[in-house]
Amino acid sequence: MAGRELKQLFEAFRNGDELAFRRVAQRVIEEEEAKQHLALARDLKKIMAGGVHDSVQGTVQLPAPPTDRDNDWPLAEVRHPSRYFSDLVLGQETQDLLAGLAEEVARWADLRSAGVPRRKRVLLYGPPGCGKTSAAEALAAEVDRPIVVVRLDAVISSYLGETASNLRRLIEYATDGPFVVLFDEFDALGKVRDDPTEHGEIKRVVNAFLQMLDAYDGASLVLAATNHEQLLDPALWRRFDDVIEFPRPTVHQTRKLLRLRLRYLSKRGLDIEGAASELRGLPHAAVEAAAHVAMRRVVVEGRKQIRPSDLVQAVADVKRRPW
Ligand SMILES: Nc1ncnc2c1ncn2[C@@H]1O[C@H](COP(=O)(O)OP(=O)(O)OP(=O)(O)O)[C@@H](O)[C@H]1O
Ligand SMILES: [Mg+2]
Repeated sequence: MAGRELKQLFEAFRNGDELAFRRVAQRVIEEEEAKQHLALARDLKKIMAGGVHDSVQGTVQLPAPPTDRDNDWPLAEVRHPSRYFSDLVLGQETQDLLAGLAEEVARWADLRSAGVPRRKRVLLYGPPGCGKTSAAEALAAEVDRPIVVVRLDAVISSYLGETASNLRRLIEYATDGPFVVLFDEFDALGKVRDDPTEHGEIKRVVNAFLQMLDAYDGASLVLAATNHEQLLDPALWRRFDDVIEFPRPTVHQTRKLLRLRLRYLSKRGLDIEGAASELRGLPHAAVEAAAHVAMRRVVVEGRKQIRPSDLVQAVADVKRRPW
């Protein structure tokens, strides 16, 4: 760790600024990863994910999420987020919407006392692998709240009658917050089992959930993500206070993401431009995978430098499979 970071950590501690502390800690973890100190990086991550700091009680454990009554499976995963907006490459509009939302959440108390409605239910939509889940996590990090990712498979795999009750308990959990609660791959709720005999009940579940969303006025920001927006009932869109689109990256954004993911390696001689145009049309997840494939070769072959051929092969490797 560089002296500069050590100083920033001490300053953050002195100022009681947990967000600043987490940002520097995250940078330290990334640097250790880049230096291949993987066990240390993993331990540091575990420590940072362990609990939420509470200025009155010290570090407290994250509250356990509700569980399914039948099989006791947790209905959500609760953790402290470890990505920030700076880890993402997004279009200007998406970036501005997310930053505006983060700013607003930080001022919720003011909105409430001014009697101005806040945005507390937001829909994220766009093709797979373009940053919906990551952005929800980064948003949670920026507003310094735990992220709660709802496991819809656990919510709906039980008896349909129990599904509404699971959703209700999740909404109650979100109400107590303050978290960022993500109903990831939310569309699954609308297309549960195609069995016509159960159709009426499914509709009731979706309707019940919509009513819960309508009535929701809790301490958490509720996000829902989907990559099947065409499947969503028109009535559903209106239930959200805002919607944010996550489109595929432009070639410029692809270049930027490659540079970001390869930032700890010297990029001399690499044809980032060429790689980005080869990756045209593929989602961010594929671009990130290309960077990972190239870095894996460097590490596995015990080298310190990335070669132009590493990137060319990594791109070909990524394009070999569907995204
Ligand atoms: N905009 C982005 N900037 C940087 N990395 C991204 C971006 N979008 C996706 N990634 C990377 O791609 C991977 C998948 O992203 P993520 O899970 O956020 O996509 P998603 O939109 O939620 O996809 P799905 O619809 O399949 O759930 C992550 O590892 C993430 O780091
Ligand atoms: Mg996702």
